[in-house]
Amino acid sequence: MTQDQAIDVVDQLLQDHVEVRSLFTAFETARTAEERSDVFRHIVHDLSVHETAEEEVVWPVVRTDLAEGAALADVRIGEEEAANRLMAKLEALDFDGREFSSVFEDCRRAVLSHAEREENDVFPLLRQLDPGKLAPMATLVDAAKKAAPTHPHPHVPGTATANLLAGPAAAIVDRTRDSLRKARERLSR
Ligand SMILES: [Fe+2]
Ligand SMILES: [Fe+2]
Repeated sequence: MTQDQAIDVVDQLLQDHVEVRSLFTAFETARTAEERSDVFRHIVHDLSVHETAEEEVVWPVVRTDLAEGAALADVRIGEEEAANRLMAKLEALDFDGREFSSVFEDCRRAVLSHAEREENDVFPLLRQLDPGKLAPMATLVDAAKKAAPTHPHPHVPGTATANLLAGPAAAIVDRTRDSLRKARERLSR
């Protein structure tokens, strides 16, 4: 991949949001319970992976590099945790039960409103960061997604900030994978 073709981390995250929105639409328009169940599993997978990448890569940078970034990150992480709790509850509910529909609607609203907040309040500020910082972030988001849990999980404090400042992208990715593996091991104990 040439420099010109390098993926922009904000575009990468926006693309995830587009896909999640279309999955929620697909859930509403699904014609059979089986189809709905498939779409629901996709939503859980895609959201868990996306939010992990944000936790590991985006929020640490927001915290340290943006004005009042700590407060901004804390509010958005709180929204992610709320959506996570709803997703975990959904996974434990009877898919055909009445409670599922009502919790699913709460989850849908929470996720879509969180995505809109990120798009309005966070992503425009991220775009203003030094391109030298944004480029490795895209690589880190890819690595974090590959190593991410695919179901709702407790928030794991990001480890990427120090790594971002520490060296070339390949070494950063190796260290991030290692950190993610350790974080997951800690969670599963
Ligand atoms: Fe998020
Ligand atoms: Fe997001």
